[in-house]
Amino acid sequence: DDANLKAVKKLGFLLRKTSGANVIFMVGAGISTSCGIPDFRSPETGLYRNLAKLNLPFAEAVFDIDFFEENPKPFYTLAKELYPGKFKPSKFHFFMKLFQDENRLRRIYTQNIDTLEAQAGINAEYIVEAHGNFASNHCIKCKKQFPMNYFKEKLDFKTEDSIDFARCDHCKSLIKPNIVFFGENLPARFFDTWEDDLETLEDKSSASEYIVIVAGTSLAVYPFASLPHEVPAKIRRILINKEMVGSFAQEKRKTDLMFKGSTDDAAQRLAEEMGWSEKLKKLCNE
Ligand code: OAD
Ligand code: ZN
Repeated sequence: DDANLKAVKKLGFLLRKTSGANVIFMVGAGISTSCGIPDFRSPETGLYRNLAKLNLPFAEAVFDIDFFEENPKPFYTLAKELYPGKFKPSKFHFFMKLFQDENRLRRIYTQNIDTLEAQAGINAEYIVEAHGNFASNHCIKCKKQFPMNYFKEKLDFKTEDSIDFARCDHCKSLIKPNIVFFGENLPARFFDTWEDDLETLEDKSSASEYIVIVAGTSLAVYPFASLPHEVPAKIRRILINKEMVGSFAQEKRKTDLMFKGSTDDAAQRLAEEMGWSEKLKKLCNE
């Protein structure tokens, strides 16, 4: 519709106006739903609604560290379903990769644990996995670290009653992937990198040099949800999402842009606006 067209035109204009303008992405589960990975909070299709079959006391319990200690089964079931390796990046992931190819990517802050940013070819230096990943594990008691396979190999179970839970060889407690559960700290890289990026955004000359694109997230989980709020007022923000959320709703700024719709659709239209459609098509088909 009209508002989306206006947002696409305006963002395209801003990106072309300053040929060196760099982009910071802040993304969530919505950019991966088209890959076949459900998000968490969408009313019909979200994971939290469909976790009922796991007999959870409340949906978020699946990522709750105290609940996990009592009953790790639901997390194992979820991990088996979502484990990286069987999904392909979306058009939006490849759209972000284009910014790297064009030397215009500053950072991607992602809440996702699907590692599709890396699978799309984006280099590790640009990616901040705010909620961790499956690449390594730790013991929930003594914190001893374990390689990826210690958990992954246990996902081979046939029925939920036959799961052989991964345990620490030192203290026999449960081990879990280094995915951030409610009640756990975010990785130091999240705080360190944001401190750096924020300093850059606050610099006098940064106003036209940086653009923040928030996409596919309900901005419901802190501290991630406070990133858009912390973006200095002179930096342009755009929200690409099916619904209005978080800081964009509660403290709307005059300069904010909103694309209300699917992230892949926005990627397609923005790529056309930038003259990048052929490049995007090529990346998606490779
Ligand atoms: P949510 O499920 O909370 O929000 C996804 C948002 O994306 C919603 O606003 C949807 O409307 C929107 N959306 C879905 N599909 C879309 C599409 N194709 N195009 C555009 N928008 C779309 O997911 P997150 O915000 O990522 O924690 O959730 C944050 C954290 O909560 C997750 O990282 C997870 C969860 O607890 C952990 O995994 C530790
Ligand atoms: Zn231990």
